[in-house]
Amino acid sequence: MPALTNKKILLGISGGIAAYKSAILARRLIDEGASVKVVMTSGAQAFIQPLTFQALTGNPVHTDLLDPAAEAAMGHIELARWADCILIAPATANTLARIAHGMSDDLLSTLCLATDAPLYVAPAMNRLMWNNPATTANCQTLAARGVQFFGPGTGFQACGETGSGRMLEPEEIRDALIHALNAPTNDALAGKRILITAGPTREAIDPVRYLSNHSSGKMGFAIADAAASMGATVTLVAGPVSLQASADVKRIDVTSADDMLSAVMGEVSDNDVFISVAAVADYRLEQVMDQKIKKSADTMQLSLVRNPDILKSVSSLPNRPFCLGFAAETENVEVHARGKLKNKHLDMIAANNVGQKDSPVFGSDTNALDVYWPEDGHSSIESGSKQDVAKALLELLTKRLKND
Ligand code: PMT
Repeated sequence: MPALTNKKILLGISGGIAAYKSAILARRLIDEGASVKVVMTSGAQAFIQPLTFQALTGNPVHTDLLDPAAEAAMGHIELARWADCILIAPATANTLARIAHGMSDDLLSTLCLATDAPLYVAPAMNRLMWNNPATTANCQTLAARGVQFFGPGTGFQACGETGSGRMLEPEEIRDALIHALNAPTNDALAGKRILITAGPTREAIDPVRYLSNHSSGKMGFAIADAAASMGATVTLVAGPVSLQASADVKRIDVTSADDMLSAVMGEVSDNDVFISVAAVADYRLEQVMDQKIKKSADTMQLSLVRNPDILKSVSSLPNRPFCLGFAAETENVEVHARGKLKNKHLDMIAANNVGQKDSPVFGSDTNALDVYWPEDGHSSIESGSKQDVAKALLELLTKRLKND
């Protein structure tokens, strides 16, 4: 899954020659799955036309604080609320100074005041301007408020001088943003060892055919990445999916439910938490054919036997970890989820409604969950990217672990 899938990025462009590179940056962010809206200062428009960004992002470019059309609906507040983060590239000395001093007489500086989304800046200016004590003080003020700086780099500058103050290359800014957005927001799971299953299992029929389901692994991988970013040591047992887990997740690839059970049982003893996100096939062939089955008859029957219940096998262990199960339901979500919570002896269960045609869960980039535990009460995690839902679920888990 692209690293910025479903991220809403407000790209602020201020007036420096590096503004031409921001067009490539916008493209690179979109390539990673982000939605990008652009805000340009009047200085930026002297270097590059808004139309370039409109064409690249597919969104209108915002340039004026007092735009009569947009202001009827408090356009700048809407824009500030929309953004998951603001990235200013290039960030000139003037723009940094204005933000540091809380100015709000143009759209970009007003947005920076009107948001609580994280702010990232990629400075670009002449080396003497960058090293000037006024700029240094402004940057220190911003850094103390949590603004993150990408660069600047050192090298040949458009003004003909060489030194510090070059804007980083678009790809470097993109990578720094991906890293910053995925960095731990807290270390609430530090010291915890978490074992997670994800994806479908595949049950062979013959050498070329199998039974499976539509799980893409996205929900489980998002939980694995989020848990690692919250400081946990994560092992991910993944069914056959084409997803990349983050580098700090230990991944074990498996195919069938039996393989998944063996991998889980081999790992579980060291773990504090087991999160069973995999859509394990409930049945497998009683007998897998050695040779490809020939289509000789009009109908055929397959004899199936129950697969082991991996989650129940873990929750039945004498020294079991905290067990968080999932329930994929199409009706009576709470009743069925609570039934599984009880029958599988779980500490917590996250139910997703997979019966809605307009918002499928299997394979999609979004989800919503209702989470239950053995006592009364429950918590709803509203619809959002699987990454956001994963973080919210792990925050709930963290609270339950503290109560445990
Ligand atoms: O992978 P995605 O495309 O992102 O989709 C995510 C998802 C829909 C697969 C995920 O959110 C989800 O709901 N996973 C559980 C799916 C499921 O199999 O639900 P279930 O109600 O059949 O199983 C209940 C629980 O028992 C689950 O935690 C399951 O992992 C576990 N189980 C089920 C059967 C079995 N033989 N062994 C198990 O461990």
